[in-house]
Amino acid sequence: MLNVYGGLATALAVVGLAVAGLAVVGLAVVGERERTEALLSSCGETGNSVSMTFEQDETVAAPDTLPAVLPLVVGIGGTIGGVSSTERALRIALDAVEKQGYRTQMFGGADMARLPLYDPKATTRTPDEQAFVAAVREASAVIIASPGYHGSISGVVKNALDLLEETARDPERPYLADMPVGLIATAYGWQATGSTIAALRSIVHALRGWPTPFAAAINTQVTKFDDEGGASDPAVVEQLRLVGRQVARFAPLSEPAN
Ligand SMILES: Cc1cc2nc3c(=O)[nH]c(=O)nc-3n(C[C@H](O)[C@H](O)[C@H](O)COP(=O)(O)O)c2cc1C
Repeated sequence: MLNVYGGLATALAVVGLAVAGLAVVGLAVVGERERTEALLSSCGETGNSVSMTFEQDETVAAPDTLPAVLPLVVGIGGTIGGVSSTERALRIALDAVEKQGYRTQMFGGADMARLPLYDPKATTRTPDEQAFVAAVREASAVIIASPGYHGSISGVVKNALDLLEETARDPERPYLADMPVGLIATAYGWQATGSTIAALRSIVHALRGWPTPFAAAINTQVTKFDDEGGASDPAVVEQLRLVGRQVARFAPLSEPAN
């Protein structure tokens, strides 16, 4: 009889321990989920939807001693043949970067159009090619803006990115290694904005860069950009500024001194 009770007591103790163990695991899972949600919401993204509450558009206080040359953020993007909404979107993001104390350099549609089709076997590079590669080598961060062409990035933007193969053997930093990279896609409809952002993220990963958590997807059928650096939808302007601020926040990690 004693053995029966003893066995029962042991079984109850084992069940009790298992329940306690499950409770601890459950609490840990809930804690992890809360941490993940907090992180996503601080980035302006919650799951698949984009939160419309944005950070304050604060300009950083000027440091007591400014560096002789401000660190550089390079913008690559736009389309050729005249006014480009993609380039205007990129300009808004770069303006936000400048407010955070960075120098910016834009390689827009006209600049990219001067780059020859990338020939990996060429033994010389044109001055435009050299200037582009030199700017990216000097940069602490990059923002790439592409239109959605047939569901992916445009050939003009891809040709410019192909040229970064010239940095493949750089001992300090090949490609975009360890650099924060902000992403912007425009398209005449929603579908290609998503696939273009996905293509850009994939390319940046291949180039060893770090796409920022938030990327701006802009439907140019709905949103119109103006000559004054604004857009018809203030939320789109805020999204572009957020891309700029996220890039600026992580840029110090890849500045040359680090
Ligand atoms: C060759 C070409 C392909 C395009 N393919 C798509 C597409 O697949 N999906 C889409 O929504 N828009 C497409 N568009 C429209 C552009 O993505 C859209 O108009 C974009 O905002 C253009 O940017 P821009 O104003 O900087 O030139 C295409 C435009 C061109 C010229």
